Amino acid sequence: MTAPVFASRKGGEPLVVLTAYDFLTAQLFDQCGVDSLLVGDSLGVVVQGKPTTLEVTMDQMVYHTSLVSRAAKRSLVVGDLPFMSYHASTEEAIRNAGRLIQEGGAGAVKLEGGIRVREKIEAIVSAQIPVMGHVGLTPQSIRRFGRYRVQRDEQSILDDAKAIEEAGAFSLVIESVPSSLAAKITETVSIPTIGIGAGAKCDGQVLVWQDALGLLVDFDPKFVKKFADVHSEMKRGVEAYCREVRSRQFPDAEHSYR
Ligand code: KIV
Repeated sequence: MTAPVFASRKGGEPLVVLTAYDFLTAQLFDQCGVDSLLVGDSLGVVVQGKPTTLEVTMDQMVYHTSLVSRAAKRSLVVGDLPFMSYHASTEEAIRNAGRLIQEGGAGAVKLEGGIRVREKIEAIVSAQIPVMGHVGLTPQSIRRFGRYRVQRDEQSILDDAKAIEEAGAFSLVIESVPSSLAAKITETVSIPTIGIGAGAKCDGQVLVWQDALGLLVDFDPKFVKKFADVHSEMKRGVEAYCREVRSRQFPDAEHSYR
C-alpha cells in the first residue's frame, strides 16, 4: 500500500487502519490485511503508561516507526509527528517528517491540526512526504481543551478539514465528532476520511489496537468496540504459568532436555 493507492480508495471499500508500535504485533496486523499501520503517539499512553501523549519524543517515534516498518510487507506505515516536533518552525516540521521516512522507514507521516498547520503540511508535502491530517479531537491540544470530549464546533472543524485537503494531504483522520459532521466532511473533501469516534460514514476507520482487542480494561469509551478479549486470555495464561511453576508442574519432561 502506498499513499497514492490509499488516497485512490476514497468512496470505495472502507479503509482499515490500526495502530501498531512493535515488530510482532505489526507483523500480525499486516498479515491480517490491515491497509495501514499507524504508529500513533498514543504509544505514550498505551505503551509508556503516561496520562497523555504530550511527553512522547521524536526519537521514540522514530524508534517505534522503524520496528513497525520492518514488519510491514503490504500495509502503509504512517508515523505520527509528536507534540512540539512540528510546532516551532516549518523547517523543524520538514526535518522531523523526514526522520520518520529516512530513519523510521514510514510511507507517510501524520500531524494534528487544521488551518493552524496548513503551511507545515504544504512544506512537508513539498519535500515529497505524504501527509495524513487529523482534526476534531486532537490529543496534543489537551492542555487547551482541558479534557477529552466530543468536538462539536462544526464550522471550524469543516474549515480545518478543507485547509488540510488544500494543503495537499492524502487523507484525514477525524476524531470524536458527531457522525453527521464526519459525514459532511467526508462528502466535502476529495481525500479519504478515517474516523475514530466519528461514525460510519467515513471512508475508513482507525482504532488503537489495545482498545480494539481488549487489552486495555480501564478505558471504555462509546466509540470503542472490543473485537477480542486479549486481557482475559493473557491473564489466564500468566496465571497458569505462575501456578505451574510454583507447583513444579512446569517444566515437565516434555519441555526439558534429556
Ligand atoms: O496517536 C494515535 O494513535 C492516533 C489515532 C488514535 C488516530 O492519533
